[in-house]
Amino acid sequence: MPPRLLLAGPICCRPGEARNLSSFDVFYLSIMPTTDGSHDKTLAALGVTRPEQLAFLFAEIRARFDSESGAVRDETAFKQFRDAWLGRKSGVLAGITDNWLKPATPELKRAVGAGLNELRAHVDAQIESRRVVIESGAEETALAKERVDLSLPGVVRPIGSRHLIRQVFQEIEDIFVSIGFSVVEGPEIETPYYNFEALNIPEFHPVRDDMDTFYLELPKSGPGPLLLRTHTSPVQIRTMEKQKPPVRVIVPGKVYRRDNPDATHSFMFHQIEGLAVDTDITFCDFTGTIEYFVKQYFGPSVKTRFRPSYFPFTEPSVEFDVSCIFCGGSGAGPGGATCGKCKGSGWIELFGAGMVDPAVYGFVNYDAKKVSGFAFGMGMDRLAMLKYGIDDIQVFFQNDVRFLKQFP
Ligand code: DAH
Repeated sequence: MPPRLLLAGPICCRPGEARNLSSFDVFYLSIMPTTDGSHDKTLAALGVTRPEQLAFLFAEIRARFDSESGAVRDETAFKQFRDAWLGRKSGVLAGITDNWLKPATPELKRAVGAGLNELRAHVDAQIESRRVVIESGAEETALAKERVDLSLPGVVRPIGSRHLIRQVFQEIEDIFVSIGFSVVEGPEIETPYYNFEALNIPEFHPVRDDMDTFYLELPKSGPGPLLLRTHTSPVQIRTMEKQKPPVRVIVPGKVYRRDNPDATHSFMFHQIEGLAVDTDITFCDFTGTIEYFVKQYFGPSVKTRFRPSYFPFTEPSVEFDVSCIFCGGSGAGPGGATCGKCKGSGWIELFGAGMVDPAVYGFVNYDAKKVSGFAFGMGMDRLAMLKYGIDDIQVFFQNDVRFLKQFP
């Protein structure tokens, strides 16, 4: 039982000095046991000799009673509680009567009697009101209300969804993975060698003008210039450097160009690069693969065509078109007008592609006489806009929930 301090006489003085301090005869500290079980001891055994000490004892007993009373919730507990306090032989009140009141010195008797009466009135009243509550079942109802029903649904917090661009990446990756391609990634910060030279774009080549980009500000003493990649094509080189043919990869990722933002341009956008190199890949494998992809992505009714084009890293190079998904290829818009999406041509330009230029193999130590392959680079944002009828690329980057929510 932890000792308790009680104010009972002068402190800070040795016994001999107490005489001089007799007017402070209230501040002595003596150690008292707690009242828990104190009703089984006499006041003398508890060290109580003066009436003032009794108030403390009774207050403690009463506090103990109140806290026990608050914990009584059902009939069994109520009976135990009632007997513990009012029981004729071993109840706390009987103990106080027998051990405190009866043997009390005449000096203390009146105060003990008064304290006991007050305590008894409190105990009686409380026990009676507790009995009414328990018997009416009110307590149980209150308890039932308080009970936590774990089967109730919790607080529903809105869960976000993957961004449409990420969803379209996944869609396209799944199509290519299903025909044997694997997905690889590369750095967004590149060297001019990977972004240009190794792709057969020497310095001062005019196509560099289309790919004006962001160079990083680096200390002059550093290893050389670095730039934000303008396309995912450098990962073709990085992949071929690392592995021998056969190679079948697609490369999703972000790319950067010094373009002013408008409905179809953004300084950061997304591409998916594709590369297949093996010993006997032909132009037919190339067109077959692309056609398969386009039909999987837009649906079986779209038609495809390719037109001659130019990229330094493919030869021949082509531009792939699909029949316009808005007018079904007719070129006619609503009400006899021309289709605004394909400008009446019935075709929509999709992406650039071609057979890998043999010069590129020279940069990665592939034998251009033995291997052949094709490559393509698609603008992801454009593919998503066409399929989902979005006419402004900027909405992808504004993170407006009203837009994002439409693609859960
Ligand atoms: N890298 C080109 C661009 O961003 C797109 C491209 C065209 C990639 C032809 C290719 C390709 O792999 O064969 O404009």
